[in-house]
Amino acid sequence: MTHHNSDVKDPSLAAGGRQRIEWAAREMPVLKLIRERLAREKPFKNIRIAGCLHITTETANLALALQAGGADLILCASNPLSTQDDVAAALVEYGLPTNAIKGEDEKTYYKHINTALDHKPQLTVDDGADLVTTLHTKRSDLIGDIIGGTEETTTGVIRLRSMQRDGKLRYPMIAVNDAQTKYLFDNRYGTGQSTIDGITRATNILWAGKKVVICGYGWCGHGVALRAKGLGSHVIVTEVKPVRALEAVMDGFQVMPIAEAARIGDIFITVTGDKNVIDKAHFLTMKDGAIMANSGHFNVEINIPALEGLAKGKRTIRDFVEEYTLKDGRRLYLLGEGRLINLAAAEGHPAVVMDMSFANQALSLEHLVENRGKLEAKVYPVPEAIDQEVARLKLRALGAGIDTLTPEQQQYLASWEEGT
Ligand SMILES: NC(=O)c1ccc[n+]([C@@H]2O[C@H](COP(=O)([O-])OP(=O)(O)OC[C@H]3O[C@@H](n4cnc5c(N)ncnc54)[C@H](O)[C@@H]3O)[C@@H](O)[C@H]2O)c1
Repeated sequence: MTHHNSDVKDPSLAAGGRQRIEWAAREMPVLKLIRERLAREKPFKNIRIAGCLHITTETANLALALQAGGADLILCASNPLSTQDDVAAALVEYGLPTNAIKGEDEKTYYKHINTALDHKPQLTVDDGADLVTTLHTKRSDLIGDIIGGTEETTTGVIRLRSMQRDGKLRYPMIAVNDAQTKYLFDNRYGTGQSTIDGITRATNILWAGKKVVICGYGWCGHGVALRAKGLGSHVIVTEVKPVRALEAVMDGFQVMPIAEAARIGDIFITVTGDKNVIDKAHFLTMKDGAIMANSGHFNVEINIPALEGLAKGKRTIRDFVEEYTLKDGRRLYLLGEGRLINLAAAEGHPAVVMDMSFANQALSLEHLVENRGKLEAKVYPVPEAIDQEVARLKLRALGAGIDTLTPEQQQYLASWEEGT
């Protein structure tokens, strides 16, 4: 359906989408509190925002909070395969123009980004920096209006820092990913659980007893490894950073180069943010029946063109499962076209963690508006006060109390004279 400035698959899915958005809201108490305040104070009144995000039930709750705060918001997908079509339809009904269709081709994906940019945003909310990159390279005439932007994920933050280093970044950015209340929970527990969920839904495999190779032991890798272990898998980690590899060893995982792991793995999961981590040479030595999935931001972690080149045949054997038959008869399986498997074949991160990520988003956007004109074209961290506040509110919502330093303890911790 295309009308006005929206393009979604099927408007009749809206009722189901609304119910699922409500269901997610149950586990987003921090965002709810923020939404109530924003509705009273309207900090985004008359401010145009373009959000390039995974169109999920949790994102819908962020969008509704910004709308309640007075924002004139438009949304587009941040990945061709992560859109929940019922949510996209519901968002349009809520009066939030949305441009996202699950399975859209690359041309449509960029058309949707450009529609969001046609809105002449003053704030940008990005997940992976595709909106910001398009804005800087093809639509730079729009930059004059911009107050600032936020970035949701590790890969996007890395890109923004590269832009800053090359002197190309043109407006202030807040790295939401790098808030402690984001990556310690969203990347670890969110990607951890939902990646396993996506692979399970796509394949219905039993994890117990499987040799699971996890490429990249960052925050996402920590989570996926922990959950695979919990399900009884034999977990093997590959890394390039010595400290992280050492951590994996002491967390009880086997660590080896991918060339070795390729020969023995049953399931491969990439979460590196890097390119061709599983490459042609590795496909050549994998076991018949090996399964590969990616949960890193872009579909470049597994060298799909090389896999296509090695295959004599290919068929879709289940939804989100592509079977490649190599010339020697071995079959390798690629899930979800190598795109974020937790969003392609499952529903992305559970609401309980997105509550914190999106609380950081909403408060960071408010911070950008409050500091309009005062910030430089740099990548800024989420202000510490916001990060701490999100943790405090979340703890309260979860019913977990903590202690407060006594004056004596405060003094002790600030002093250096007192020893044994
Ligand atoms: N699926 C999701 O919903 C989701 C959620 C959050 C983040 N992400 C994405 O997942 C990716 C990882 O995020 P993160 O926060 O864990 O990042 P991170 O930087 O903490 O970890 C990435 C790790 O991969 C390692 N690595 C890089 N190249 C490698 C290689 N060739 N072989 C083995 N290891 C290698 C790095 O050394 C690092 O330790 C990013 O692309 C991020 O944007 C996805």
